[in-house]
This record gives sequence, structure tokens and C-alpha cells, in this order.
Amino acid sequence: MKNINEAYLKDKNVILRCDLNVPIKDNKILDDTRIVKSLKTINYILKYANKIIILSHLGRIKNEKDKKNNSLFIVKERLEKLLDKNIGFYDYTCKTKKELNNKIVLFENTRFFDLDNKKESNCSKELSKYFSSFGDIFINDAFGTTHRKNASNYGITKYLPSYKGYLIMEEEQKLKELLYNVNKPFIVILGGKKVEDKIGLINNLIKRVDKFIITGAMSFTFLKAQGYNVGRSIVDESNIRYAKRLLKKYKDKIILIEDCIVSNNSQSIKELRNINEIKDDEIGFDVGPKTIDIYKEILKDANTIFFNGPLGLFENKEFETGTKELINYLKTLNSNIIIGGGDTINAAKKYGLKNAYLSTGGGATLQYLEKGKLKF
Ligand code: 3PG
Repeated sequence: MKNINEAYLKDKNVILRCDLNVPIKDNKILDDTRIVKSLKTINYILKYANKIIILSHLGRIKNEKDKKNNSLFIVKERLEKLLDKNIGFYDYTCKTKKELNNKIVLFENTRFFDLDNKKESNCSKELSKYFSSFGDIFINDAFGTTHRKNASNYGITKYLPSYKGYLIMEEEQKLKELLYNVNKPFIVILGGKKVEDKIGLINNLIKRVDKFIITGAMSFTFLKAQGYNVGRSIVDESNIRYAKRLLKKYKDKIILIEDCIVSNNSQSIKELRNINEIKDDEIGFDVGPKTIDIYKEILKDANTIFFNGPLGLFENKEFETGTKELINYLKTLNSNIIIGGGDTINAAKKYGLKNAYLSTGGGATLQYLEKGKLKF
């Protein structure tokens, strides 16, 4: 894809795909980095174009309840504040571009179409065409979604001249440095709960790093692969054999947790357990102090650190210690630190990490680091 600078935008209706998939709790945006980082491209388009039509997904939509909880309306309100401009918010009852009466348009969550045969996620031709019918040019700036071939970011490129925006360009530049000019030792810390999305990416990435810390909810698939009882912790059963193979092949590189904080459910009393002490009805929600000490020892000499996915359920005060302690430690280092993913950025901001580059991609950043290029 060509760069946005090469696009002739004057008087055109420009469709912009952003990744405005921000963490939201109790109807509040917890972290707006992805919205803020989209502003450069939005403002550039606004300077030249007749109209800008913004598309984004939010969350994952499997039923009507998900639809209620994942409207982009709250994002529209934040974007209006940041731009200091009114935005027209449209649902998909809209049939033609003549119905769009605002200079800035935000369409509702593109994944609402997933309730109709996963049209967005499965990149339906019909939906791609429908999206494309609202504009003359397409700009993709949704870096966080570049690992997904969806209708609104990939399918649409078949029907319109397409370019990449400033955020994708910036992310590519930064991550390229990490791939081709990395200052070693290079340590990856991979946690979080999107286990099945990330686990497959370890294989290539691990070849480039000196130590690979597998932590957070990701840990339990690996502990189970080693034969530990992990109780009711999150496990990606389909990848146990793969985890076993990785552990065998990279036993000197992979660092697993040694202890964890468990509970019967996320609200009740917590207990500290060594990894061989987890009981059948327990769920691991955070790493323990022994594990944190090991991480500090490994990280103290790192020149480059890539951190994706929190160490525990840090949104809950009971289970924030691991993530908080790690981030407090990262603050003391002079290493080149790259943080990836919405939850991790949220944690980095919550605990005041300033000496890091915030990449808006989670799975996308991992995939870029694995493949060394954008998927499309
Ligand atoms: C992300 O948060 O990593 C991106 O917005 C993609 O979201 P997804 O994992 O739900 O496709």
C-alpha cells in the first residue's frame, strides 16, 4: 500500500479505518491512546477532503448483549472533544452516501455485522462493497487490526484506491528498528488473556530474543503442558502440545512463573501458591513475589524490552501487584522499552511508565515482529 502523502484527497470523500477499540469499563474509556494516535491522520484528511468517513470495530460481537455493550457512541463523544468538532454518528440503516450529512462521519461498530454470518470478520465481499460505496478513497490507519483480514480494513481495498495512514507508518518504522537494529539483550514479556491469538506467534519471535518471559494468563497453558495442575485457570487446550514443543526446544529461553496469586473467583479471598500447589477449584489471577524477583534479575541488563499483555487482572486491586511492580521496575531502567496492546498501555499509563514507546497494536504488533512486515 502507498502512503497517505501520495493520495490526492482534495474534494474527495475519504473512508478512514481506525482502530478505536479502546478499553471501556462501566461506560468509561479507560485509555484513549488509540483515539489520540489516530488524530494526526484524521486532521490531515480534514484539511483536504470533502468528507471523512471513519470506520472501526470495538470488542468482539457474538450476541445482542455484546452489541449493547460495544457501541462506538462513547468513542464518538471522546473524538468530538479531542477534535473540538461535531461528528455525525451513523448506524447501518444508511444505504447511500447521500444520506451522510456531516463533514465528519463515524459509523457504528463494524463488527455489528458479525451477527450476520460474521460478515465483517470473514471479510464478506458484499459488506466490503457496501463500506466502499460511501467514499472515493480508502486510508487504512488501523495498525492494531493489521493482523485481521476483515471487510472494513482489507476487503474494502479491493474496491477503492487505498493508502496507509500516519499511524501505520509510524508503527512500521518503530517496529522495524526492533527487528533489524535491535540492541541486545532483547527480552520479550508476553502475558494477557488473548492466549489463542498470541501463542501461535511465539515460534518465530523467540528466535530473535535472548529471553522470552511467558506470564499472566498465558502462563497456565505452559504450566499445564509441563504437567502442573492449574485448577480452573485460563488454558488454551488446543495449544498444549505446541506449548510442550516450544518448552522442549527453547528451554533455556522460556521463563515461566514460579508462584501465583489464586482465588476461587475474582472477588473473593486470595492466596499465594507455588506453581505445584494450585488446587482444583482455584484460578490464577496474578504472579507472585518470587516470580517478580526473577523478572527483575533478567531485565536488569536488557537493552531492549518488548512487553505485551499484563501479568494479572490488574484492573482489580487485589490482583494488580505483579503488573504494578513490573512497571515500577521498568521505570528505573534505561532500556529501549516498547509496550504493545490496549490493556498493557492502560497499565503503563495507570502506573506512570513514561520511558516507553506505546505501540497501539497487540496481536498486530506481535505479528509484525514475527513476520517482519505487515500482513497486507
Ligand atoms: C486489538 O485490540 O488487538 C485490536 O483492536 C484487534 O482486536 P481483536 O483481537 O478483537 O481482533
